[in-house]
Amino acid sequence: MEKREKLYEGKAKVIYITSEEDKLIMHFKDSATAFDGVKRAQIEGKGSTNARITAIIFKILERKGVRTHFIRELSENELLVWRAERFLVEVVVRNVAAGSVCKRLGFKEGYRFPKPLTELFYKSDELHDPLICVEHVELMNLAPVELVPQMKDIALRVNEILSNLFKEADIELVDFKLEFGRLPDGSLAVVDEITPDSMRLWDMKTGEKLDKDRFRFDLGNLMEGYEKVLKRLRDTENRG
Ligand code: TMP
Ligand code: ASP
Repeated sequence: MEKREKLYEGKAKVIYITSEEDKLIMHFKDSATAFDGVKRAQIEGKGSTNARITAIIFKILERKGVRTHFIRELSENELLVWRAERFLVEVVVRNVAAGSVCKRLGFKEGYRFPKPLTELFYKSDELHDPLICVEHVELMNLAPVELVPQMKDIALRVNEILSNLFKEADIELVDFKLEFGRLPDGSLAVVDEITPDSMRLWDMKTGEKLDKDRFRFDLGNLMEGYEKVLKRLRDTENRG
């Protein structure tokens, strides 16, 4: 398998095609952006840390029967993934109120929802990833609309698996975003990344924020948070 030309470059990743047409290389960059690219920085080590975190999480999800696009790790900051037909919908799951749900609906940060809340967003930088409902998915053809209930079910299952995983690492999974697509074999799968860029993670003992909010709101060194997350995930894995 050979790396070929760039297919797409996003804010945090570059996707390369390979000599095998059904496989892609996902390269994690050392860049951080927030507020739709308005705030940017180069952060050494972020790419490899996020690649490791995504690989650990995707392996665990696969073991638990959740289909993902992950095939294997290739290098420090590169993963080999299945080429998927990607949907322009993001599914967010929230256990605790933070971020946009506080602004939109007036919840106090830290309010624990009686049950996990799922929300749909339109993946569009120009429009700032607006909140949408299932009717918009159908109208705008963002994904096969009949798959939306399945996507929400998978997202809730991922929430159970990851909430338990992070709890063992003394971390609260506050919220996270998933993207979906269809793999070459036709199955619905979780694609993209799962990293502290796309999750909110709070230290259960100290309340310290370990995710991208550190960068968004200048709460402290970003890599210190991300490295804590990676180290604790590794320790949890080693404990069994
Ligand atoms: P929000 O509070 O900004 O709506 O974000 C909720 C969670 O989902 C947070 O962990 C960040 C993540 N997220 C993304 O990674 N990308 C997105 O485009 C959106 C809307 C959310
Ligand atoms: N993901 C978006 C960006 O990178 C928004 C954010 O994370 O604040 O610009």
